[in-house]
Amino acid sequence: MIKVVHTIKEVRETVKEWRKEGLSVGLVPTMGFLHEGHKSLIDKAVEQNDRVVVSVFVNPMQFGPTEDLDKYPRDLAADTRLCEAAGANLIFNPEPEEMYDEGFCSFVDMNGPTAELCGKSRPIHFRGVCTVVNKLFNIVQPDRAYFGQKDAQQLSVIRRMVKDLNIPIEIVPCPIIREADGLAKSSRNTYLNPQERQAALILSRAIKVGQQCVEAGERDAHKVVDAMKALIETEPMARIDYVEAVDLNSVQKIDKVQGEVLFAMAVYIGKTRLIDNFIVNIK
Ligand code: PAF
Repeated sequence: MIKVVHTIKEVRETVKEWRKEGLSVGLVPTMGFLHEGHKSLIDKAVEQNDRVVVSVFVNPMQFGPTEDLDKYPRDLAADTRLCEAAGANLIFNPEPEEMYDEGFCSFVDMNGPTAELCGKSRPIHFRGVCTVVNKLFNIVQPDRAYFGQKDAQQLSVIRRMVKDLNIPIEIVPCPIIREADGLAKSSRNTYLNPQERQAALILSRAIKVGQQCVEAGERDAHKVVDAMKALIETEPMARIDYVEAVDLNSVQKIDKVQGEVLFAMAVYIGKTRLIDNFIVNIK
């Protein structure tokens, strides 16, 4: 039976017992309101580890003052059912005060991979992500941690952080999970009304257009991006935040499609900001 705990002490005690038995531990960091995308991370973690911890924490530090922290969807009972069915062993669901006590003033931050894409539109976002992920790594001390490729920049940022700070944890990337009609699964999809839900398909359609350009031999990154943008602009409910081509690892803008390239976008559908991406590897 899965255990739900709210304090760092309880996580440490549980993991300590597992370690005494020589068991391996996987961590799936989440902000809850779990869907099939999260389930695929948990499934992978269950497959690769003896015990799995899922953290469910809507991290205030990674939300800007005008962002959706208060309305971010939450449902711990449903999350617990999903985690239990998937075979996870422990849910860590702290209150913000447990993670950030009075006087908290230490942060993990980064230059470079956080400068473009979401880092540009959400200036404090990655400082919040790096800090909380570091804390979760220190609290759980897992062997492996699982992150979805839908947040491709986040994955590159965390990989860089782990490398730079010599964190002895294997980062396991997991592919984007999509609805049958192509929309990438996201907790924020619940904000969309039926018309917006339909309009949101423009993101995955733009991904297809971009992929087709690259498959057809286009190597000018700007031309691929322009084709994606042109399609998105045909959807009246869509407003582009960014569509960019960057080097997957450094997350710096590129001109030529060569090596590992991330084509990433953030698009507002009504008031909801959605992200999607695809990666190519051109020799
Ligand atoms: O990807 C997310 O849900 C969050 O950014 C994470 C990694 C759980 C940190 O709060």
